This record gives sequence, C-alpha cells and structure tokens, in this order.
Amino acid sequence: MNTTFELERFITDCRAAHQADRSHKLVREVIARAVSDPTEVLKGLGEPKRGEVQKLYHSTELTILNVVWAPKMTIMPHDHRMWAVIGVYTGREDNIFWRRVSGKGGGKLEAAGAKALSEGDAEPLGHNIIHSVTNPIRRLTGAIHVYGGDFFNEERSEWDPETLLEGRFSVERAMREFEDANRH
Ligand SMILES: [Fe+2]
Repeated sequence: MNTTFELERFITDCRAAHQADRSHKLVREVIARAVSDPTEVLKGLGEPKRGEVQKLYHSTELTILNVVWAPKMTIMPHDHRMWAVIGVYTGREDNIFWRRVSGKGGGKLEAAGAKALSEGDAEPLGHNIIHSVTNPIRRLTGAIHVYGGDFFNEERSEWDPETLLEGRFSVERAMREFEDANRH
C-alpha cells in the first residue's frame, strides 16, 4: 500500500469520508491510516518548528488543523460541541477528560479520566467531551485534529484552570496561548 502523505489528497479523503458518514467513524480511519506512517506525515506537513495551530481546511461542516504543541504546554479544559479526532504524528499528548460536578453551580468540573496519546494513535472524542491537553515532553508534539463542524465559530465553553469554573470559549485567547508557549 502506498502510504505517501499528500496534504491535498488527505483533505480530499477526509471530506469524502465525512460526506459518506457524518459521524467521526470514516474520518478516523483516514487519520489512522495517515498517522500509521508518521514519517510520511512529517514529510508532507514539514517538521514542526514552533507551537502553533495551522488551519489546513475549514468549512462550516469540517475543520482540519495541524496542531503543534510547544514543549510542556498545557491548554485549559474546553469543550468542542462537535466530534473530533486527534491523530498524533510526532511526540505525545496527554488528555485529561472532565465532567461537570452534579449539583454545583458555575459549571464546576471534576476530573473523569485520562488518555495518553502517542505517535500513531488516532483517538475519537465525542460531541460532549470536555478535555484539557498537555504536551508532557521537552520537544514539540504534532497532531492532526479534525472536527465535525466549524471549530472557529461554534459557541462553546472553556474552564478556568484555577477555579475550574465555566466561561465562554475565546478562540483568540486559545490561539494566544500557543504564541505565549513559544516564549517559555
Ligand atoms: Fe480540544
């Protein structure tokens, strides 16, 4: 099987998979196939150079990002309100999953689980998942993140990492975190 990673082809394949099945299922298979040969993905996307979010494809229905996590970077808990698939092609991502504490105000969270993702993993996240992400290693981590919706314009929540109380997600603030992480 030819596993050469070509970005345009990958985007076409993701869009076709999403057309055929609106769930994450077929898209996850496309991503799993791609990250099963991480060296090819690195060649196709280029070696990660700095923490950043590169928009590879964006429509009202589907968003494809190349997410490069700075060393030791952590992003606060947030939800997506659409399914997602994370495919790691270099480094590591530690995901903590959170849930609302029943009976508490302010959308207060408690930890519910965790998942360590490594190179080659393609992990689906459900529509209602709340997660925070840490790059636990001292070098850049690169992952393809695909979302079944408009990642940049969906109204959604983030949680203050100190109080774990709910606020309105700001995509600008989230993008700034990636910039700030490069200065540490
Ligand atoms: Fe996320």
